[in-house]
Amino acid sequence: MVRILFISLALLILQVPPSLLPADDHKTGNKHQNQHEIREEHNTHDDHSGGQVEKDAKGNEVTGQIAAWLLVSANLTVVFSIITKGANRFLSLKPQTKSLIKAFNQAQKKYLMRFHFVLNPLAFGVATVHFMLSSCRSSPFPEGGFFLVTAMVVLGLVLKFKVAPGWMRRVVYRVHTSPAAFSAVILMLVVGHLMVD
Ligand code: HEM
Repeated sequence: MVRILFISLALLILQVPPSLLPADDHKTGNKHQNQHEIREEHNTHDDHSGGQVEKDAKGNEVTGQIAAWLLVSANLTVVFSIITKGANRFLSLKPQTKSLIKAFNQAQKKYLMRFHFVLNPLAFGVATVHFMLSSCRSSPFPEGGFFLVTAMVVLGLVLKFKVAPGWMRRVVYRVHTSPAAFSAVILMLVVGHLMVD
């Protein structure tokens, strides 16, 4: 589990920006016709106005990039938190070092958690636009990633606005804050987009 976590964190840091780019149909040409494709209606558009697909693909690429960067910025605090909690739990450190790491985590969460709350819904909005502009026939993973992000956002909102009974919120908290759920989202998005790139 720890290995999966660290691999996905490494992928997040090293791969997300390029890998979350939508497929670049106008650059890759016919070779990769099974990559992301602009939905039918956009193609139909092309019949009437030349160059429309290229324009739409650009829009699609931009929405993918913006969503990826927003998601990374929103969840940087979560990455810090998971790493610091993991270090304290799995490394044999001196008690003073552990306290220092814990204090660092509390401080970074105090300042950065607001970005988690604000940028995640924004990322979700842009990702929805990106999702509507894209369709991928070669792999279900990008769509799966989108649905996992949606689920995390819904669970996060339930926590933030306390819109469920206490017992349910405890379950939601465990799911939403579990490193496994976080890893699943990142892996699904990264692997899915690598598969179609
Ligand atoms: C509207 C969107 C979201 C809201 C309102 C939200 C809300 C929250 C809240 C209230 C916490 C608990 C903070 C604490 O214990 O101090 C939290 C933690 C967390 N969230 Fe979200 N969240 C959102 C989106 C996301 C998304 C999209 C992901 C994953 C991709 C995510 C992953 C996490 C993780 C892993 C933690 C645990 C951080 C830790 O170690 O303390 N959240 N979130």
